[in-house]
Amino acid sequence: MKALVCEAYGSVDDLVYRDMPDPVAGPGEVLVEVKAIGVNFPDGLLVEGKYQARPECPFAPGSEISGDVLSLGPGVNEFAVGERVLSLTTSYGAYAEKIVLPARVVHKIPASMSYETGAALLAATGTAHHGLRQRGQLQAGETLVVLGAAGGTGIAAVQIGKAIGARVIAACSSEEKLAFAKAQGADEGINYTKQDLKLAIKELTNGQGADVVYDPVGGDAFDACSRSMAWNGRLLVVGFASGRIPELPVNLTLVKGYSVAGVFWGTFTQKQPEDHAENMRELFKWHDEGKVAPVIDAEFALKDGVQAIKKVTGRNVMGKVIIKP
Ligand SMILES: NC(=O)c1ccc[n+]([C@@H]2O[C@H](COP(=O)([O-])OP(=O)(O)OC[C@H]3O[C@@H](n4cnc5c(N)ncnc54)[C@H](OP(=O)(O)O)[C@@H]3O)[C@@H](O)[C@H]2O)c1
Repeated sequence: MKALVCEAYGSVDDLVYRDMPDPVAGPGEVLVEVKAIGVNFPDGLLVEGKYQARPECPFAPGSEISGDVLSLGPGVNEFAVGERVLSLTTSYGAYAEKIVLPARVVHKIPASMSYETGAALLAATGTAHHGLRQRGQLQAGETLVVLGAAGGTGIAAVQIGKAIGARVIAACSSEEKLAFAKAQGADEGINYTKQDLKLAIKELTNGQGADVVYDPVGGDAFDACSRSMAWNGRLLVVGFASGRIPELPVNLTLVKGYSVAGVFWGTFTQKQPEDHAENMRELFKWHDEGKVAPVIDAEFALKDGVQAIKKVTGRNVMGKVIIKP
């Protein structure tokens, strides 16, 4: 099979499109023919050796796929050959024509769902869902501020915030991105390259601050939000796309009576598999109802996967980028 392979940690430009041995499903595993791959910001970090996981080289990056079941390993009875499925990976392996996955992490795709949507529904959407439900405990009627709101996980947080019934304020770096976030349901918008984020949040909340902030950006935007939280608020630490991991004067949490909660979806799926399965059921239901639907910004062939990663890490994506082998 063909794969896009990291031979040694370094630049994504050094990824090689080449043949790899076909994988074989072992006990408890499923072999899937990959039809669509979701591209995520951490894919680039993984190749550069800057991510939490450091698989042994050579490996194909990529953490989410959809496709068709090709064969079943011993002991797997819950799937049939030819069935359409989606799955996360063990944080790598997705940028390939075929992949072997533990059956326990594979989900059947509802009939109404395309391969592209299936591949886009996991990391970005799953993180937003877990962040807002389990970590943020977002309630209908509360005010949610989403940073990087036009990005992969940001736009998912906008849609899920609306599905839960919150008032959603999108914060982005351009008018074009704000218009996109509003078209996806955001009630208000803040352009944080032109407006003072802290003041704008205060103004839009009558001085109360945000009940929940969903932050995949970090840096200056986090600093501003750490000073504009509501009493009993929840500031969700999701990622650091800005490149700076912020530091928090913890007295702010005491004075303003808010909590800071870390969000790590991959570990959540392993440590709380039943809650993850329940989340997936809710996501499928919201998708059926038309409330949550990943927006595909661009599609690339597997051999052009480097361009796909660069589009995501280059700050110019609205929604999700997909690779199709
Ligand atoms: N904790 C978890 O479980 C988990 C899961 C998935 C992703 N993440 C993390 O969440 C972050 C976002 O992931 P994503 O897939 O949504 O990425 P994405 O689609 O590229 O979105 C990231 C957003 O961050 C903003 N940004 C600000 N400064 C940036 C910079 N210097 N370079 C690039 N983007 C910048 C951009 O919005 P503006 O231009 O509007 O500022 C961009 O839309 C990443 O750090 C990723 O590692 C965490």
